[in-house]
Amino acid sequence: MHPMTARTFVLTGASGWLGQALAAHLSAEGHTVRRLVRRAPADAQEFRWDPATGAFDRAALSGADVIVHLAGEGIADARWTAARKQLILRSRVDGTELIAREAAAAGNPNLHLISASAVGFYGNAGAQVCDETAPSGSGFLAEVCRAWEGATSAAAALPVTHIRIGVVVGPGGGFLARMLPIFSAGLGGRLGTGEAWTSWISRHDLCRAIGWIAAHRITGPVNLTGPAPCTNADLTAELGALLHRPTRLPAPSFALRLAMGEMADELLLAGQRALPARLQATGFSFDHPTFRDAARWALEEK
Ligand SMILES: NC(=O)c1ccc[n+]([C@@H]2O[C@H](COP(=O)([O-])OP(=O)(O)OC[C@H]3O[C@@H](n4cnc5c(N)ncnc54)[C@H](OP(=O)(O)O)[C@@H]3O)[C@@H](O)[C@H]2O)c1
Repeated sequence: MHPMTARTFVLTGASGWLGQALAAHLSAEGHTVRRLVRRAPADAQEFRWDPATGAFDRAALSGADVIVHLAGEGIADARWTAARKQLILRSRVDGTELIAREAAAAGNPNLHLISASAVGFYGNAGAQVCDETAPSGSGFLAEVCRAWEGATSAAAALPVTHIRIGVVVGPGGGFLARMLPIFSAGLGGRLGTGEAWTSWISRHDLCRAIGWIAAHRITGPVNLTGPAPCTNADLTAELGALLHRPTRLPAPSFALRLAMGEMADELLLAGQRALPARLQATGFSFDHPTFRDAARWALEEK
């Protein structure tokens, strides 16, 4: 299919922080965007689905070319109690199994399923570089990502892509929305030793990369991260410099653990140094290749 061909995309999680931006990006590129929603549809491009009950309006996939499946309960929205962890896992596995089953039943062997996952797949990989061939690691997030990716198995006969998304940097949400109030108040500082790696990507490049994956029909695992992951110490210094604020107040590991429990160990004190090897091998170029570019763009967009 020619990269510029207008296609019909079907999105889950279209109301989310990434989904809204992706829908706007794809529409601006001339594609048709349908949304699968868990409430009553509000217009002709909305279709009902509900991973909790298995309900699915099959009209959503009629004539569709690409599904981008983003839906899932927020990973960092609340402390990881046993019940919360179950919700995070089930909302991904149930939704993914449903979309994969329905994609397979749609009768279009070219229907491309692009299903979200995260760089948490690699576990706490320390400073080791993780391209898409790196093994999965240990911990709750790695377990979730493996189950999430495995849940597309019903669609194995179709082109399937697992996008392993990094920490997304953009306006009005995500990582920056959590960091800005702290850094703007001059209370920013490195987390723990500051050695944990963060594989970030700008939301703008994430949307472009998903369009690229669809246009070039890239299948298998694809790291959706920028080309220059940073340590937490680097991120801290960059944010302080951009905001003209001091960053002399490190957050000690024990305090983060006390405040956030297990989440602190997996989301803040550990990380991955993932590289977008497959995107780069297929010729994708980033508009925001450095964290400074991404953060500056996000701050200007606000
Ligand atoms: N933002 C990041 O930095 C980042 C990094 C790595 C991976 N990801 C992954 O990318 C996906 C989208 O991220 P986001 O930041 O846009 O998240 P978000 O703003 O929380 O949006 C997620 C969407 O998923 C749907 N959803 C929520 N709970 C659900 C449930 N229990 N069952 C089914 N659907 C549910 C909702 O859409 P409806 O109400 O319309 O159904 C919601 O708008 C998520 O799976 C996330 O884990 C994000």
